[in-house]
Amino acid sequence: MNAINVGIIGVSGYTGLELVKMLINHPIFTLKYCANTEGETTVSELHPALLGVCDMGVEKVDLDRAASLCELIFLALPHKTAMNTAKGLLERGVKIVDLSADYRLSAENYEASYCEHEDIENLEHAIYSIPELHGRRAQGSRLVANPGCHVTATLMALAPFLEHIDTTQPIFIDSKTGVSGAGKSPTAGVHYVSVNDNINCYNIIKHRHAIEIEQHASLLSGNDIKVTFVPSLVPMTRGMLACVYATLKSNVQPDEQLEKFYENKPFVRVRMAPPHTKMTSGTNFADVYATRHGNALVSMCAIDNLMRGASSQALVNANIMMGLDETFGIPVIAYVP
Ligand SMILES: NC(=O)c1ccc[n+]([C@@H]2O[C@H](COP(=O)([O-])OP(=O)(O)OC[C@H]3O[C@@H](n4cnc5c(N)ncnc54)[C@H](OP(=O)(O)O)[C@@H]3O)[C@@H](O)[C@H]2O)c1
Repeated sequence: MNAINVGIIGVSGYTGLELVKMLINHPIFTLKYCANTEGETTVSELHPALLGVCDMGVEKVDLDRAASLCELIFLALPHKTAMNTAKGLLERGVKIVDLSADYRLSAENYEASYCEHEDIENLEHAIYSIPELHGRRAQGSRLVANPGCHVTATLMALAPFLEHIDTTQPIFIDSKTGVSGAGKSPTAGVHYVSVNDNINCYNIIKHRHAIEIEQHASLLSGNDIKVTFVPSLVPMTRGMLACVYATLKSNVQPDEQLEKFYENKPFVRVRMAPPHTKMTSGTNFADVYATRHGNALVSMCAIDNLMRGASSQALVNANIMMGLDETFGIPVIAYVP
């Protein structure tokens, strides 16, 4: 199979770094273009851990040049910047996997949570894809909206039970994230002194990922799903654990349901004990576990927020878009111990 040239815009960020690490070893994709706001540097100057591994140049974003070099580009940019960049690249015939929130929601939900949407035309044909839940719908598409990290972990725990849950009862989600979820820019809330030896909830109920969970759980179930979403920041660099609490209306056996739902899915591991984030660190695995106490369902999913919650899921989606095997170039060995 011929090589496919790809690029990363936003290469200096955390998710950009994860994309570089995978793309330099990918069997088909060749990394041809890396960009950030200023350029005039190299990947290894931005990420010294990659010295001697990836020293390629990093340029200031230039859409014509990006389009002349690449068939597909990963956008690892903040929301709003992402849609403005995607619009210009799509006009130039480049395929996009967008890691931001810009194409994940309906225009109405997006504008209620973020800002005015400036690319409604492309929003209408963007494909939202968690491959185990949506299949290969990304194949052949021009624009994939890569799901949010809390949303991925939550939906992987919730989706297998949607038809077994009493949706007239509350669905609670408690999702804990490592600090890299906030990106590389330092703020008071992610200062060492704030995070170390500490755990705190943030943006409870009103976190932007709540509306993304509700929109996509509702689409998956065919019913209107409402959730009470409580995210927490925990003192880890990477990792995410989402726990879903709901009321069952059937006598489904949770472990059997997970086994059945995720049969033959290479990146989902059904565990017989609660999962650890560390066992998924640096991989695309979603480790799931569920149990019941009477009618109370407890279902959980551990992922690496930077990988399954962002970059490795983006690469699986890119593989699918281009008609490749979804497992190409995807790491499966965790950073343990
Ligand atoms: N971190 C996570 O766990 C996670 C999970 C899921 C989704 N996401 C989403 O993925 C996207 C990237 O997240 P991140 O954590 O990697 O962010 P980050 O560490 O803050 O990096 C942001 C990147 O965007 C670049 N950038 C910002 N404005 C730009 C502009 N106008 N032109 C060109 N480049 C620009 C930055 O370049 P400079 O260095 O030049 O400023 C940097 O490379 C965000 O939309 C985020 O919400 C993140």
